[in-house]
Amino acid sequence: MPYEVQGVVARGKGEAVTLETVVVPDPGPGEAVVNVQACGVCHTDLHYREGGINDEFPFLLGHEAAGVVEAVGAGVTEVEPGDYVILNWRAVCGQCRACLRGRPWYCFNTHNAAQKMTLADGTVLSPALGIGAFLEKTLVAAGQCTKVNPAAKPAVAGLLGCGVMAGLGAAINTGGVTRGDTVAVIGCGGVGNAAIAGAHLAGARTIVAVDVDDRKLDWARGFGATHTVNSRETDPVEAIRDLTGGFGADVVIEAVGRPETYKQAFYARDLAGTVVLVGVPTPEMQLELPLLDVFGRGGALKSSWYGDCLPSRDFPMLIDLYLQGRLDLDGFVSETIGLDQVEEAFGKMHRGEVLRSVVVL
Ligand SMILES: NC(=O)c1ccc[n+]([C@@H]2O[C@H](COP(=O)([O-])OP(=O)(O)OC[C@H]3O[C@@H](n4cnc5c(N)ncnc54)[C@H](O)[C@@H]3O)[C@@H](O)[C@H]2O)c1
Ligand SMILES: [Zn+2]
Ligand SMILES: [Zn+2]
Repeated sequence: MPYEVQGVVARGKGEAVTLETVVVPDPGPGEAVVNVQACGVCHTDLHYREGGINDEFPFLLGHEAAGVVEAVGAGVTEVEPGDYVILNWRAVCGQCRACLRGRPWYCFNTHNAAQKMTLADGTVLSPALGIGAFLEKTLVAAGQCTKVNPAAKPAVAGLLGCGVMAGLGAAINTGGVTRGDTVAVIGCGGVGNAAIAGAHLAGARTIVAVDVDDRKLDWARGFGATHTVNSRETDPVEAIRDLTGGFGADVVIEAVGRPETYKQAFYARDLAGTVVLVGVPTPEMQLELPLLDVFGRGGALKSSWYGDCLPSRDFPMLIDLYLQGRLDLDGFVSETIGLDQVEEAFGKMHRGEVLRSVVVL
C-alpha cells in the first residue's frame, strides 16, 4: 500500500512553500522507504524554490536528512528495516568511467529512486537532489542510505547529508587542506563554517573567516577561525594577504556562489594556491578574469560538489569523530522546527539569523 504523508512542496518560482499530502509508493527493486526523523534547511532548497536550479516545479524540498529505514524493495542488500541512516545524494553506480577508474566520489551516474512520489492528484514531484525529505517518509534508492552510529541524534547526523559535508569536504577533500596550511573561507553560512571546521580538523595554522554579517563571524570563531574579516567594512583580499605574511592563503574556499566573491577568492590566494568554489551560482552569472592572471598565478581552480565525498567512507567516520568530541556538529543546529515552519526558516536564513534550522519529525 502506498503511504500518504505530509511534505513541503514548492509549487512555483518564488511562491511560498506549502504543506501537501504526498503519495509515496512502496519501495520497488533497489529502493527504500525511510522514516525521516530530521532534515536541515539548506540554501540549495531556497535556490530550488527561486527557480535557480531548474524549472521542474513542483519540487519536493529537503535533502539533508537522517532517519530509520521502514521498508526495502527486492534485491536490496545494503540496508534493512530498522537501520539508522543518513540520506545521501551520491549513490554511486560502480560502472561509469569515474567509478571504474577508482574515483567514485566523481560518479557521473548516481542513483535515485526509479519510482516517482506524487501529489494526491497524481502530479509528479521533483525531489530536491533526488531526495525530498521535508516529508514524513521518503522514497530513495537504497544506495542513498548510509548507515551510521545511532548514538548521534538525527538533527545533527542529517546535516552531513548535504551542507556540512559539502563544507568539510571542500576543505579536506577538494582543497586538500593539511597541517600547516593557511586557509580563508568567504561566506560563513552552514557550508562555509563547515569548511572552517574542516580546515581546523585538518590542522590549518591560519583560518581567516570572511562574511558580511558579524553574527556569522562569531560562529566562525567557535568552529576554529583564527581571524575574522567583515567584508562590508574591510577589503577582504588585502586583509587575507595581511594575515598571511603578505602572500595570500594556500587554500581559499568560496561558499557564497557569486562572481564578486569568487574574484576575491581568486586574488586572496597565494601563488600556486587553490581556489575551491562550493557556493552554487545561478544560471545568469558570468565571471570575467584576466586570462594572464589565471595563467600567471598558477595553482588550481576547483569546484566542489558535495565536498567530493564518498558517503560510505565519510559519513560513518565523521559521525565517529563527532561522538568522540573532535568535530562540533551541534554548533550548526541553530534551531529545531516543524514541517510547517520551512518558509519561516527561509526568511531567517535570508536575514542571516541561523546556520541551520532543522526540521524534526
Ligand atoms: N557545492 C555543494 O555541494 C553545495 C552543497 C550545499 C550548499 N551549497 C551552496 O553553498 C552556498 C552556501 O550555502 P549555505 O547553506 O551555507 O547558505 P547561507 O545562506 O547559510 O550562507 C551564505 C553566507 O554567505 C554570506 N554572504 C553573502 N554575501 C556575501 C558576500 N558578498 N561576501 C561574504 N559573505 C557573503 C552570508 O552572510 C551567509 O553567511 C549556497 O550557494 C548553497 O547553494 C553547495
Ligand atoms: Zn559511477
Ligand atoms: Zn544542500
